[in-house]
Amino acid sequence: MSNKILVTEDLTVNFDGFKALNQLNFSINVGELRVIIGPNGAGKTTFLDVITGKVKPTEGRITFKQHSNLRQLSEHQIAQLGIGRKFQTPRVYLNLTVRENLQLSCHRPKTVFSALLSPPSKAARQTVQGLLETIGLVLSADKPAQFLSHGEKQWLEIGMLVAQSPDLLLVDEPVAGLTDEETFQTGELLLSLAQSHSIIVIEHDMEFVRQIASHVTVLHQGSVLCEGSMESIQADPRVVEVYLGQTPEVA
Ligand SMILES: Nc1ncnc2c1ncn2[C@@H]1O[C@H](COP(=O)(O)OP(=O)(O)OP(=O)(O)O)[C@@H](O)[C@H]1O
Ligand SMILES: [Mg+2]
Repeated sequence: MSNKILVTEDLTVNFDGFKALNQLNFSINVGELRVIIGPNGAGKTTFLDVITGKVKPTEGRITFKQHSNLRQLSEHQIAQLGIGRKFQTPRVYLNLTVRENLQLSCHRPKTVFSALLSPPSKAARQTVQGLLETIGLVLSADKPAQFLSHGEKQWLEIGMLVAQSPDLLLVDEPVAGLTDEETFQTGELLLSLAQSHSIIVIEHDMEFVRQIASHVTVLHQGSVLCEGSMESIQADPRVVEVYLGQTPEVA
C-alpha cells in the first residue's frame, strides 16, 4: 500500500442520475507513468476533475500520499498537496516570454507584476534554465509565448507545471492537434519527467500511447474495464468491443 501515490475506492460521480464515474477503483504507484484510454464519454476527464477537486464525488474515496480523503479539500488545497494538472488548451501568458512564464511559475507570486519586477535569484535562474532544457525550449527562451507553435506551448505549460514541483502530474490529451514530430517529442518529454514524477496521461492517439505506455488502464462507462500492457489490452475482446466503430486502430 505504501508505494501507492494515489488510490481511488468506489468513486462515483452522479450528474442528475447519470453516473459519469461508477464505483471506480484505481491506483498508481509512486514513480509510475500510467496511460488511461477509453471511448468518448468514458469518464476520463471527469476522473481528473474529481482527483483535482473540481468535481466532488457523490460516493467513494480518494487517497493521495498520506491524505486519506481529499473530499474535504478545495481545488487549491489539493494542488498544494502536490497534484498538478495540465488541461488540453495551453494556459500560458501569451505576451510574456517563455522564460518569464517559467519564472512566474517558480515564484508562485501574489501578482504577475511583483514577480516580474523583482529580479529572480540565482537559484531561480538555474531552475528556469533547467526547465528550459527539459522542455527543449532553450533557443526560444526569450520569445513571447504567442509566437510558439501549439506543441511548444504545450511543452511550456508542462514546464510551468513541473516548476511547481508536483508529485503527481495529470495530463489530459497532450498531443491533440500536434504534428507527428511534436507528438513524438511530447512522448519523450513525458518519459523523461516520469523518471522523477508519477504521471497519469489520458490520450486517444494510439501510436503515442504505444510510445510511452508500459501500463494502460481502459475506462468504460465510468469504471475500469481492464488494465495491463498495451499488448494485453489490444488483445482483450472487451476492449475491442467497446472501441468497435470508434477507434478501429485499437480493435
Ligand atoms: N458537468 C456535467 N454534467 C453532466 N454530465 C456531464 C458533466 N461532465 C461530464 N458529463 C458527462 O459525463 C460523461 C463523461 O464525460 P467525460 O468528459 O469525463 O468523458 P471523457 O472520457 O473525458 O470523454 P472524451 O474522450 O470525449 O474526452 C459524458 O457522458 C459527459 O457528457
Ligand atoms: Mg475528456
